[in-house]
Amino acid sequence: MSKPFYLTTAIDYANGAPHLGHAYEKVLADTIVRFHRMNGEDVHFLTGLDEHGQKVQQTAQKRGVPPQQCCDEVAALFQALCVELNISNDDYIRTTQPRHIKVVQELLQKLYDAGEIYKADYKGFYSIRQEQFVLEKDRLENGKWPELFGEVIEITESNYFFRLAKYQDWLRKYLEENPDFIFPDFRRKNVVEFLKEPISDLCISRPKERLSWGIELPFDKDFVTYVWFDALTNYYSASLEKGCWPADIHVIGKDILVPPHAVYWPIMLHAAGIELPKKIVAHGWWLSAGRKVSKTKTDADADAPKEKTALELAKEFGPDAFRYFVMREMAVGQDSEYSEALYMSRYKSDLGNDLGNLVNRVLNMTGNYCGSVSPAATVDEAPEQELRELWEKTERQYHGLAAQLDYRNALDALWAFIRGINRYADARAPWKLAKSDDPADRAKLETALAVMSEGLRLAAVALTPVMPGISSKIQELLGGVPATQFAGNQTWGNSLVGKTFGAKAILFPRPEKK
Ligand code: ME8
Ligand code: MG
Repeated sequence: MSKPFYLTTAIDYANGAPHLGHAYEKVLADTIVRFHRMNGEDVHFLTGLDEHGQKVQQTAQKRGVPPQQCCDEVAALFQALCVELNISNDDYIRTTQPRHIKVVQELLQKLYDAGEIYKADYKGFYSIRQEQFVLEKDRLENGKWPELFGEVIEITESNYFFRLAKYQDWLRKYLEENPDFIFPDFRRKNVVEFLKEPISDLCISRPKERLSWGIELPFDKDFVTYVWFDALTNYYSASLEKGCWPADIHVIGKDILVPPHAVYWPIMLHAAGIELPKKIVAHGWWLSAGRKVSKTKTDADADAPKEKTALELAKEFGPDAFRYFVMREMAVGQDSEYSEALYMSRYKSDLGNDLGNLVNRVLNMTGNYCGSVSPAATVDEAPEQELRELWEKTERQYHGLAAQLDYRNALDALWAFIRGINRYADARAPWKLAKSDDPADRAKLETALAVMSEGLRLAAVALTPVMPGISSKIQELLGGVPATQFAGNQTWGNSLVGKTFGAKAILFPRPEKK
């Protein structure tokens, strides 16, 4: 029996509201799994919330509420975002759930019993913001700590350590021998470079007097588990009921690749004798005016020109326009710039002028000239042949690029086809043919409408993983039932003949003039 294709996203910190970065990661993951489902695969898709740790404890303290209440509120926000963006996750894990806590404790106990965890004194500098010890070598030339660490304090404490260092050579070799383990490849090479410098063992505990909001160590009740050890384990703990381990893809952002996902996680699993995930996909950052979009607002933000956020635009113009924008704009693995202007330009030109206009033309003309009943194509001349050939080329490109996670270029190719259908319509000009009494012109008119509709149907089915709502809507307007598989639905044919089309529909309303 084959296990489902298992895909996860990072679990979001429960210390703030969702933003574009979180939303993108979910849409990217959702697009990947929807391609797999459309290819006939059984899929299990997990996302969730990272609820323990200092940041959550501090946020709760500041607000004067119990940490669990803080997490519940943030969980509601993130879960609402998933619904709003049409994210098809099968499960939502929260690291305060008993099913997760149990597995973290079992894993710790197993590693402890095997001698992979030991107790030692540690004296050093600690970054509160990053929740990690920092090293002398991290200091700036002026003696200060980089801003990213926030407040840095010196502490000595007894803690538990996981024997990371002894697996360094194993991991480096693994990464060299498994070139598909990390996408994009230049990031895998970065990890290999990182592993050329000696790494230290990982401190996996926090004394309760400093941090109480965490999972208690099963072998010492005075300590809780370091939040990264806890959080990474979510992928495994959530998989157990489903029996879908190992994960096929972990989708994460580039900031949490090294060291957590590319170093700690593979070593934790290997040391515990658990199979490694197949692939880690590390996407880039959304930037706004050149800076990472984040929940930590700085003073500079106050001066930034007021523009609508991507999530506000998602509310205003619908989830599919948001999904299209992020998948079309960002090359997976690279950074990308967000602005309201870029978003609205995609909305108006690609969605309104190209796709929306095509839908209008098909529905209006089939309504006006054929009583909304889809006619048959009986003419097959150069314009028809060229468009069909363009589709055959597009279909190969689109699915080939999507399989390599190159959604940006896949959509580019699909849009070249959509514009090709509009050009075909201009060339055939059914509105002129409609004025003629010649039966040959009538045949050309009906052919033109049949060809445009068939092209639109093929494009709509192809779009399913990226714009599931709009795709279904278009297929329904064409008198059909939305396809649940690509197989049998991406070949040029005549399945629309005789179907009754819907009335005119505005899929992408024009933004109101201010
Ligand atoms: O890192 N652009 O949580 P998080 C693109 N809890 N992606 C972004 C982004 C941006 N501007 N900002 C954040 C955590 N992300 C941990 C993960 S996993 C076991 C634990 C991405 O809420 C970020 O890269 O800070 C990460 O993948 C995800 O959003 C959650 O970030
Ligand atoms: Mg972050």
